[in-house]
Amino acid sequence: MLGNLKRETTREYDPQVKQFGEQMTTLKTQTTTPPARITGLLQSGWANQVLRTAVELDIFSHLNDKPLTSKDLAAKAGLDAKATGYLLNALVSLEYLTQQNNIYALTEVSQFYLVKGSPLYFGNHVLADDIVNSAWHNLTDKIKDGRSCEKVNNDSEAVKFFPDLAANIFPINYTTAQAVVKVLKAESLSEPFRVLDIAAGSAVWSIPFAEANKRATVDALDFPEVLVVTKRFAEQHGVANQFNYLSGNWRDIKIEQQAYDFVALGHILHCEGKELSQRLLAEAYAALKPGGTVIVAEFISNDQLSGPVFPMLFALNMFLLTENGCVFSQTELKSMFEEAGFKEVERLTLPFWNQESPVMVAKKI
Ligand SMILES: C[S@@+](CC[C@H](N)C(=O)[O-])C[C@H]1O[C@@H](n2cnc3c(N)ncnc32)[C@H](O)[C@@H]1O
Repeated sequence: MLGNLKRETTREYDPQVKQFGEQMTTLKTQTTTPPARITGLLQSGWANQVLRTAVELDIFSHLNDKPLTSKDLAAKAGLDAKATGYLLNALVSLEYLTQQNNIYALTEVSQFYLVKGSPLYFGNHVLADDIVNSAWHNLTDKIKDGRSCEKVNNDSEAVKFFPDLAANIFPINYTTAQAVVKVLKAESLSEPFRVLDIAAGSAVWSIPFAEANKRATVDALDFPEVLVVTKRFAEQHGVANQFNYLSGNWRDIKIEQQAYDFVALGHILHCEGKELSQRLLAEAYAALKPGGTVIVAEFISNDQLSGPVFPMLFALNMFLLTENGCVFSQTELKSMFEEAGFKEVERLTLPFWNQESPVMVAKKI
């Protein structure tokens, strides 16, 4: 066994191998890039663990009362002082903390997202040890056999998978959803209006409508097990009295036609794949009043399927977790909107997102 390993290892450096010889010549004659693109990615695994450890030890909540030295923080949290110093410096380098005169303080991001009890606390998602992580551990085998590990959007699996996921990802989209409401000027609508949130999850795409304008009423549609989460979020945000619920699989629910001013499809198309997404867009079109707007939130790839990085990773994620899930490009989504009858298709310009806005809207004329 050890003998085999030795032979293999030696072969990689064997000057008889043609490629080895050619590359040695190149290396001697030109300046070659160091492997930073590879080491950088390997180091990001360590950075990931730094964040997880900081969340596990609740470092950020300890700093919420007031900035502290590493020694004081270690004493407060019952940790080793020297090791805590290393951890805090790494957190500074990753911009989760600032440090001045050996006093460590929260940044805006850690203050909002990593302090326990914050309305946007994201620590549960950082620590989630769920089906998604296990599926990614099987990536190599799945690329060989081409079969997804899970079918999380089958009814029986969905009701186990989605309640926690939907709650945990609320912080990812809340401020973006607020920005969407602003761009669509929904806060200044002076007549009562109706929002349908299909596959609502935490209702992250509709709660901001209800918060911005008391004339909004929302129908939130999802599986009954997930609607428990939806109701909790609506209550926490003080808008429960503006919410009604449609319980079940969207494919089985008869949705009121020509009834809504806005229909939100937040991160549901990628679960369903192209065929069902086209059907879902047709349902949204039928549900809207003339003049109404559909809002689609997705991880949108470029047309060449070469980036940005996250949508391309997410395509693999959908391959691992669903039967037909996928990501769409802006051009593909635009033609899907148009096939459903929508006009004035637009990728919204939103603060913080530069060219990578995750939201497209279109109108029923
Ligand atoms: C990725 S989550 C997105 C939730 C929320 N819209 C958001 O953007 O955070 C997908 C949601 O779709 C719901 N869902 C998936 N398939 C569904 C179906 N066939 N009928 C109703 N809801 C469904 C899940 O329960 C889950 O809440």
